Amino acid sequence: MLACEKLPCPYTPVWLMRQAGRFMPSYRAIRERVGFLELCKNSDLVTEVTLLPIQQLNVDAAIIFADILLLLEPLGIHLTFDKGAGPVIHNPITSAKDVDRLFNVSTDHIIEKLSYVFAAIGKTRSALNKHVPLIGFCGAPFTLAAYLIEGGSPGSLIATKTFMYKFPDAWGKLMHLLAQASILYLSEQIKAGAQLVQIFDSWLGYLSPQDFAQYVLPYSKSIVTALQNIAPVIYFGTGTGSLLPLIQKTDCKIIGMDWRVDLALEWERLGHKVAVQGNLDPVVLLGEKEDILKQTRKVLAAAAGRPGHIFNLGHGVLPETPIENVQYLVELVHELTGSTVT
Ligand code: CP3
Repeated sequence: MLACEKLPCPYTPVWLMRQAGRFMPSYRAIRERVGFLELCKNSDLVTEVTLLPIQQLNVDAAIIFADILLLLEPLGIHLTFDKGAGPVIHNPITSAKDVDRLFNVSTDHIIEKLSYVFAAIGKTRSALNKHVPLIGFCGAPFTLAAYLIEGGSPGSLIATKTFMYKFPDAWGKLMHLLAQASILYLSEQIKAGAQLVQIFDSWLGYLSPQDFAQYVLPYSKSIVTALQNIAPVIYFGTGTGSLLPLIQKTDCKIIGMDWRVDLALEWERLGHKVAVQGNLDPVVLLGEKEDILKQTRKVLAAAAGRPGHIFNLGHGVLPETPIENVQYLVELVHELTGSTVT
């Protein structure tokens, strides 16, 4: 929480995207018994899974176990996670007319249908050491729209961008709806006990800066603005090297960077006015300990001990990562940046 405000910390805080996931034997054991969506909807199991990385990895923040696509269900989207195929949307948005059918839901309906997320946040917050912040999250409107239009994992976003260019009015309506629903979703997560939130814009890197500014930024900014005085917001995307100054215009407190950028250079370009999160390549964790050490040192050197750095990977932990390497990384970040960590 100090790092979000660019205040000095006793050591660089570290958490990892997908820190509760398939690389963990204990997570895989739970998943053998329950499907992914079923797991997300069981608040006791979600609490258990969310706490696993705190117990096993010694990370400095917990992220509630959920998925960015859960918000689509109350909007009337039929979502499944099929083995090996990732998420599938069975009734995608293919025409301007389809956008209107998403509008027939009330705020109360959305909150009620997602009450399992808020219940899990409440339970997790109570079970968690009070010094460990709990992160809530949502998908950014652009990334959600990409799944909605492509019907699953977006590939190269051809259908999404074609829709955006061809039907600018329907696109605007869709983005507005998703932004409003996200504001509601994040506000409820914060009320339930999340102390900061991350907006995942995983597919943003497919847009030019001009298109991001025109078709996406106003909607993303509206979410950050709505939460401005409630909780710090981390805005994360991948492939965003040329978009970072525009992301800063959302007024988010923390910008997530993937491994494709030089964190030192980009932070300087942002005038050090925001906190930054990142940006070790997740593939490093598949290698030898000495390489993990070398690469971790590089990320820390790029941040140069400046207040406002949250250590993370540039994207999620890969499922094939050995858990010992993740434990080693967290220990390293703590050891190399502070002396009083227990
Ligand atoms: O630990 C955490 O980071 C919190 C939990 C979390 C999950 N998904 C759990 C999950 C978070 C923050 C997400 C966000 C998410 N979900 C994103 C944005 C981050 C990113 O990866 O870019 C996206 C794009 C999704 C959509 C999604 N969910 C996909 C594409 C997939 C399938 C791909 C895959 O890795 O299997 C999921 C499933 C998913 N979400 C899993 C987990 C742990 C794997 C499901 C399993 O147990 O089989």
